[in-house]
Amino acid sequence: MIGYRMPTRAHIAPGCRSRLPEVTTSLGIERALLVVDPGLLATRRPEEIEGILTGGRVRVERFSEVDPNPRTQTATRIGELMRASDLQAVIALGGGSVLDAAKAGAMLATNPGTPEQYEGPNLYEHRPKPMIAIPTTCGTGSEVTWVSVLSHPESRRKISVKGETMFPDQALVDADLIRTLPASLVAWTGLDALTHALEATTCTLANPVSDALAERAITLLFRFLERAATDTSDDAQAREAVMRASTVAGLSFSNADVAGVHCLSESIGGLFDVPHGLANAILLEPLLRYHRPFVDPRLAELELLVHRSTDEAQPISERAERFLDRLGDLTRRLETPPFSSFSIPADEYPLIAEQAVRNGSNSSNPQPMAAENYLEVLAGLG
Ligand SMILES: [Fe+2]
Repeated sequence: MIGYRMPTRAHIAPGCRSRLPEVTTSLGIERALLVVDPGLLATRRPEEIEGILTGGRVRVERFSEVDPNPRTQTATRIGELMRASDLQAVIALGGGSVLDAAKAGAMLATNPGTPEQYEGPNLYEHRPKPMIAIPTTCGTGSEVTWVSVLSHPESRRKISVKGETMFPDQALVDADLIRTLPASLVAWTGLDALTHALEATTCTLANPVSDALAERAITLLFRFLERAATDTSDDAQAREAVMRASTVAGLSFSNADVAGVHCLSESIGGLFDVPHGLANAILLEPLLRYHRPFVDPRLAELELLVHRSTDEAQPISERAERFLDRLGDLTRRLETPPFSSFSIPADEYPLIAEQAVRNGSNSSNPQPMAAENYLEVLAGLG
């Protein structure tokens, strides 16, 4: 049992990026590395954030070479750059890849070696450099978590580096920043957030606080994700709702865990470099169905709470089925492609299953999951 904790000071409001100078001043930052999502380079966002920082008397260097599934080597380079230029803090502007690479980089700036040496919880010695996280997608939750997930190409695995002092010091969650996010990325990252909340509330480490946070995130996402994915630029209400849901879902799983969906998607991501949010979007409903009847009581409760169903007399299994049908409908309406779109050969399934079992979150599944269980799930995906 983790026990609820939330060391990150999170600002959650449209326009809150303007508070950056107050934040850097409060942390005593005068020289910082801005790690930027390459997807933002076509926009004016990096320059805008640099302008805000410079106005707050912070000298900024920029690093924008972050890969979509960030490699361990990328985090190592960030750490080296921070040491070489004597930078005091890292400011991460981007999606989960950027936040995770920067988070591990901040740890490596004060600890020798490479991320592989620190796979697992609390294995480093020195406190990481301060970090400010500014997410630009509505899915990662990394701005309020202690974990950095990195690809290790040599072993074709994803590794998790985490620690009680790896939470970002501050997070600026500004819904304005997803205004120009393509519809498909709103959908896939939003479904990643929904996965975080649903896995948090059905896993073995679920607790009263993580459940309350998950319920809020799930409600917001069912109500607003489709609208946000249809029109992010002119629908401020939907934009703010999904951005808020993403961070609230991050708080939820950060204080519980994720489970089989992430075990499989991280395995597949490490082997085949597929987008994390999309993999989760595809796997979420099949995994939850596989976990029946272990998750039925919770899904039946969510059907009442989230969808305000009034038929409490309906059997638990029927209410859970209704919830899963709604989840499947939402996923399809968001034009999630089928698993076959990844073109993964079936003879790779045993390796995928084996790596999923080795994932640190495997023991949090609602039912014990061995390689043969994951193989059954994969076989059912067509
Ligand atoms: Fe995720």
